[in-house]
Amino acid sequence: MSQIEKAVARHYTTGALTDRVRDALIASGVDPDAATVADLKAGDEFHTGGVAATDNLFNQLSPTHATRVLDIGCGIGGTSRYVADRYDSTVTGVDLTPEFVETAKALSDLVGLSHKVDFVEGSALDMPLDDAGFDLAIMLHVGMNIEDKAGLFAEVSRVLATGGTFALFDVMGGPTAEPLAFPLPWSTLPETSFVHAPEVYKEAAEAAGLTLETENDRTDFALAFFEEVFAKVAKDGPAPLGIHLMMGETAPEKFQNYVANLEAGRIRPTEMIFKKTG
Ligand SMILES: C[S@@+](CC[C@H](N)C(=O)[O-])C[C@H]1O[C@@H](n2cnc3c(N)ncnc32)[C@H](O)[C@@H]1O
Repeated sequence: MSQIEKAVARHYTTGALTDRVRDALIASGVDPDAATVADLKAGDEFHTGGVAATDNLFNQLSPTHATRVLDIGCGIGGTSRYVADRYDSTVTGVDLTPEFVETAKALSDLVGLSHKVDFVEGSALDMPLDDAGFDLAIMLHVGMNIEDKAGLFAEVSRVLATGGTFALFDVMGGPTAEPLAFPLPWSTLPETSFVHAPEVYKEAAEAAGLTLETENDRTDFALAFFEEVFAKVAKDGPAPLGIHLMMGETAPEKFQNYVANLEAGRIRPTEMIFKKTG
C-alpha cells in the first residue's frame, strides 16, 4: 500500500463499525438478526444520494444472474448487496480499508447474502483479481481518492472481459476553478483528494480501450437530495443509521462543505458508462 493509500484507509477507519451499525439498527427499531438488505439502505451506500443514486445508475444497466459484477472501492458493501439482491448477480467487492471489508462481510452475513457477494482487501490500482474475469465493473465515489486515473482505468480494463461495461459515479471537478472547502466526506485534507475534471476520466478511459457511452451531470439531483436531507435533520434530528457512522465527529462539517462546494460549482457529481470494445 502506498503512503497515500494508507492515509486514505486511515481516513475511513472510525472503529467498531459493525457494532455501531448493529446498535443503529436496534435504535431504528430493527432486530439486527432479522435485518434485510433494505433495512441497511439508510447507512450502507456511502455516496451522494445513497440508494436513489444507485437506482439511477442501474436503471441504465441490465445485469442478470449470470453477470459477473465487480464493485471497485465497495466500502461496506451496500451497492454490492443491492446488485446481488435486485438482479441475483454474483458480486466481488474490492476495497482498501480493512474495517470496511470486515463490515461488508459481517453485514452480508447478517442479511443472508454471503453466498452471492465476496469482499477482498486491495487497491483499485492493483486488484488481486484475474484478467478478464468480470462483465460489469462499477465504481461509486472512489476516484476522488485516486490520483492516477490512467492507472485506474488501465486496471479496470484489465479485469473486464471484452464487451464488458464500466459504470461509475464520482465527484468530479465542476465549472468553477476554485480550491475546495475541506474537510469532505472522502478526505479531511487536500493531500488525499484528487477531484479531476470529467475530461481527465474520458482521456484515461480512451487510453485504456474503454469507449464512453453515456455521461450524466447529477448536480441537480445532488442539490435536491441534500435539501431534503437537511430539512429532515432540522425537523427530526439525525437518524440513528446513516452514512455519518463512517464519517467520524466532523460528519456535519463534511456534509456542509460538500454542499457549499456543489453550490459554488467547484464539484460535479457525474455518472459515466463505458464499454470495453477492444
Ligand atoms: C466514499 S467511499 C464509497 C464506498 C462505496 N463505493 C459506496 O458507494 O458505498 C470510498 C471508498 O473507496 C475506497 N477506496 C479509496 N481509494 C481506494 C483505492 N485506491 N483502492 C480501493 N479502494 C479505495 C475507500 O476505502 C472507501 O471505501
